[in-house]
Amino acid sequence: MRSISLILAITLTGTAYAQQGPVKTDAYHYKIEKAITASKGAVVSAHPLASQAGLLMLRQGGNAVDAAIATQLALAVVYPAAGNLGGGGFLVAHLKNGKNIAIDYREKAPAAASRDMYLDQNGHANTALSQDGHLACGIPGTVAGLFASLPYAKLTIQQLIAPAILLAEKGYAITEREASSLNKRRDEFKKLNTQENAFVKAPLWKAGDTLIQKDLAATLKRIRDNGRAGFYEGETARLITAEMQRGHGLITTADLKAYEAKERTAVTFPYKAYQVVTMPLPSSGGIALQQMMGMVEPYPLNAWGFHSVAAIQLMIEVERRAYADRAKYLGDPDFVKVPVKELTAASYLKGRMADYDPKKAGISKYVPAGSIYESTETTHLSVMDGEGNAVSVTTTLNGSYGSKVVVGGAGFFLNNEMDDFSVKPGVPNMYGLVGAEANAVAPGKRMLSSMTPTIVLRKGKPYLVTGTPGGATIITSVFQTLINVLEFNLSARQAVDAPKFHHQWLPDEVVVEEDFDQTPLDHLQRMGYKIERGTTIGRVELIKINEKGMLEAVGDKRGDDSAAGY
Ligand code: GLY
Repeated sequence: MRSISLILAITLTGTAYAQQGPVKTDAYHYKIEKAITASKGAVVSAHPLASQAGLLMLRQGGNAVDAAIATQLALAVVYPAAGNLGGGGFLVAHLKNGKNIAIDYREKAPAAASRDMYLDQNGHANTALSQDGHLACGIPGTVAGLFASLPYAKLTIQQLIAPAILLAEKGYAITEREASSLNKRRDEFKKLNTQENAFVKAPLWKAGDTLIQKDLAATLKRIRDNGRAGFYEGETARLITAEMQRGHGLITTADLKAYEAKERTAVTFPYKAYQVVTMPLPSSGGIALQQMMGMVEPYPLNAWGFHSVAAIQLMIEVERRAYADRAKYLGDPDFVKVPVKELTAASYLKGRMADYDPKKAGISKYVPAGSIYESTETTHLSVMDGEGNAVSVTTTLNGSYGSKVVVGGAGFFLNNEMDDFSVKPGVPNMYGLVGAEANAVAPGKRMLSSMTPTIVLRKGKPYLVTGTPGGATIITSVFQTLINVLEFNLSARQAVDAPKFHHQWLPDEVVVEEDFDQTPLDHLQRMGYKIERGTTIGRVELIKINEKGMLEAVGDKRGDDSAAGY
């Protein structure tokens, strides 16, 4: 690796940080920390440099919201596959004053979008258009979300954005995983872009190469100097709309100027002695999680044991039912009326399990609903501070590098979130899945999400902060992580790294991770389940308060995820 002393901590925090001992992280010699224990604050995210940026804010006197904002901005630089300025996300927080907040900065369909925009003249869905290139892009929400979070923070945007600017301007050494991911997409980056960008390199990227993003640094500086107008108006807006015009996309200056993040009421529900705080619509995550937790609660999961056949089968069956409801009923609540109260009522959930048979597999075609496709590239970060604040953020471009369109001159990828709409309601898409009218495309509408940033309270105080990327598997990953801790008493590390399984109603099959034990699967197959071994499910970031009251932060083994704390 290049030996340059770009020492983030010293540069950014001066003496305050230097007094606290030797600095361990610089942009060229950082270390992935899978699990740490801390007493005053902890951050865990998809990249060690982003976690360090959050930690710096805590050390500078910021709270968990400050750390979450700085970590997101740093991820936009050091994790371009999913960290973003050109995407959207959700923030759930429990504040030290006892208030829960949920900030929705999901992308929106441009004003010129229409219900059938991805259908050809014969009425066939062309998902290539909703997944790649300029027509796939929703109006980005991330920058509006950061500014909507700022009133809950203590530091200034100038302080919070400084690490991201430094990392973009001076560069950082990329990991092996990043090098291979950028190289894999090289042809698409070339095909789908109208101008040169920082992500295509000849010869190919290798671990330790420095990624410098000058255009992105300039965009970040405009945000630093002009606030949200530095993105939604002026030069950045001009560059986005010029990019749209070159690539025949739909986003206009009026779309950008009109974009607003929304503060919504968090989904909260009890699970035994705990209180769960999670994301409401337009994410399906919170409602589906409430349904799944509500459906398993009456059963003796703890007695059955971790990954026992009985426990796995019950959890598969509740996943099947929650995903069926998701597909039929859920969509942007600003556009469709969703029967949330009815879907989460205890009596309804009990009725939903009336046909559950512990001896054999359920059959999805007898569960009335549709389903939708979602891609798996998203990113999550979890933060707790010493003041009693906890923040859980999931943010996304949708697919890996989103639409693969880099805004010429502005240096960031735009999302392909339009594919999270049902591009043709009621008809199977290229993945064999169907969606419903509730999630059809409409101008200004937010597409349904699965992102499930979640906080669990014990005696009213933060106990777990968690979330994950993984598209449709997000909800099952969060569900299983919570059950792993709350029912099976696994440690934070075990709960995150445990192999997962996933059922989403359609296709009617259980996907399990490569390292899943074969013995319970043999039993499940005999009961009638179709089992598919997949690659990985989720990339969970978890902070848990341990028996000694310390913060245990764990980054998932499935990526470069890394924890930081003090
Ligand atoms: N794009 C993934 C999600 O929002 O669920």
